[in-house]
Amino acid sequence: MEKCLAIVAADKEVLSPASRMPYYPLAVRSGHGSTVVDADGNEYLDFLASAAALNTGHAHPKVVKAVQEQAARFIHYTPAYMYHEPLVHLAQALVRITPGDFPKQVAFGLSGSDANDGAIKLARAYTGRPKIISFIRSYHGSTYGSITLSAVSLNMRRKIGPLLPEVEHIPYPDCYRCPFGQQHGSCSLECLEYVRFAFANYIPPDEVAAVIMEPIQGDAGIVVPPVEYVKGLVKLCREHGILFVSEEVQQGFGRTGRWFGIEHFDVEPDILILGKAIASGMPLSALVARKEIMQAWEAPAHLFTMGGNPVSCAAALATIEVIEEENLVERSRTLGEQAMARFRELAGRYELIGDVRGRGLSIGVDLVTSRATRERAYKEAAKVCYRAWEKGLLLSFFSNSVLRIQPPLVITDAELERGLNIIEEALADVTAGRVPDEVLETVKGW
Ligand SMILES: Cc1ncc(COP(=O)(O)O)c(C=O)c1O
Repeated sequence: MEKCLAIVAADKEVLSPASRMPYYPLAVRSGHGSTVVDADGNEYLDFLASAAALNTGHAHPKVVKAVQEQAARFIHYTPAYMYHEPLVHLAQALVRITPGDFPKQVAFGLSGSDANDGAIKLARAYTGRPKIISFIRSYHGSTYGSITLSAVSLNMRRKIGPLLPEVEHIPYPDCYRCPFGQQHGSCSLECLEYVRFAFANYIPPDEVAAVIMEPIQGDAGIVVPPVEYVKGLVKLCREHGILFVSEEVQQGFGRTGRWFGIEHFDVEPDILILGKAIASGMPLSALVARKEIMQAWEAPAHLFTMGGNPVSCAAALATIEVIEEENLVERSRTLGEQAMARFRELAGRYELIGDVRGRGLSIGVDLVTSRATRERAYKEAAKVCYRAWEKGLLLSFFSNSVLRIQPPLVITDAELERGLNIIEEALADVTAGRVPDEVLETVKGW
C-alpha cells in the first residue's frame, strides 16, 4: 500500500476536494479487460468500470490501436473551423445505432455535462420555450446547466447559486421508495398523475421545451421506472409539444442489455444525450437529435475547440466495433440476468438486502437497516465496499446505500462469478460485525 498511500497523501495537498468522493486509497497503475493494477502491484477485479465509462474494458487492444494510429496521424484540428473523417464516420455510426427511424444529426462535446447543457439549449432553440423539466434525484453533471438539472445531492448545489432559471423538478417514479407512498402493481401511477397535476397548477405545459429523463436513474441507485410511466409521459409530452430527451450518459452503449436504456420502454426520444462509454474512456460526448430539431440552432451556439477530437472519435468508432463484434449488448443482458438471479438468492439469506434492481449489467443492490422501514444502510454499504476492496474487488455504492454493479461488459463468466463471491463474503463479514467502524473514516462514497 506504500506507493498508493504516498500518492493519496500528495493528492490531498494539491487537488480540490470538490472533485472526488473517496472510497479507498487506490491509485491506478494499469488496467486490462476487467482488471485494474494499483501502484503497489495489487490486482483488482473492477465492478465500477470507471463509473460505467469502460464498457469495452480497460485498454481494449482495438481501442488502443485506434487511439495510437489516430494520434500518430493528427491529434486534433478543431471541427469548429475544419472537417475530419473520424468525426463524420462517427456521426454516421451514431445515427445508425440510436433508436428512431428518421433523419438525425449529431453535435459533439467533451463530457456528459456539456451534452446536458447542449440539450437544454437545443430544446429551447427549437421550441422557443424556456422551461425544462428534470427529475428529483437525477444526476446530470457539473456544469451550470447540468448541475441545475441534477437534484441528488445538496452539496453539489450548495454555495454555488444562482443556478439556471426555468428548470423544474418532478418526482422520479421510484417503485421501491415511492414518493407517493404506493406499491407498484397496486398503484394508479400517481407519479404520472402528478405530471398532469403540475401542468394544471404550476408548470404551464406550453412553456415547457423538454423533459430530460435518465431512462434508468443511475446515481439515485439504479431506479428503473415502470414502462407505463415512460410511455404515458412521452404521450403527455407529445400532446403538449414538449420534446422528450433520453439522458443516456450512464445507461447507454450496451450497459443495460440494449444499445440504449430508453429501448426498454418502447418509445422514441427526440434527443439522446450520450457520454461516458461512448469512447471507452477518451473524452467525448454527443447529442443525437431529429434533424429538424438540430437545424434550429446556429453556430456558435454549441461548439468546443476540443469537441469531436479525432482521437476520441477513433476510440468511439473502435468502441462501437468492439461492442458489435463481441456481442456485448447481448452479453450485458445475459450476464446481467445471471447476476440479478444471484443477488436475489443472496437477498433470501441476507436481511441487509432490501431490493435488487436493474437491467443488463447496470444493477443496484439496495442495502437497508430494516426491510419494513427501508431505511438506507449507509454504514453497512460502506463497509461492504471496503471489505470487497480488501478482497480484491473494486466495488462502490451510491445514494448512501446502493451497491453499484456496473463491470466492464467484456467481463468473463468466471470473473463475474468471482466478483459475486467476494460480495457474498463481504456481506457475511459485515453482517457478522467483522468489519470495524474505523473504515468509515476512509470510505465516504455518496
Ligand atoms: C447520468 C449521468 N449524466 C451525466 C453525467 C455527467 O457526465 P460527465 O461526468 O462526463 O460530465 C453523469 C456522470 O456521472 C451521469 O451519470
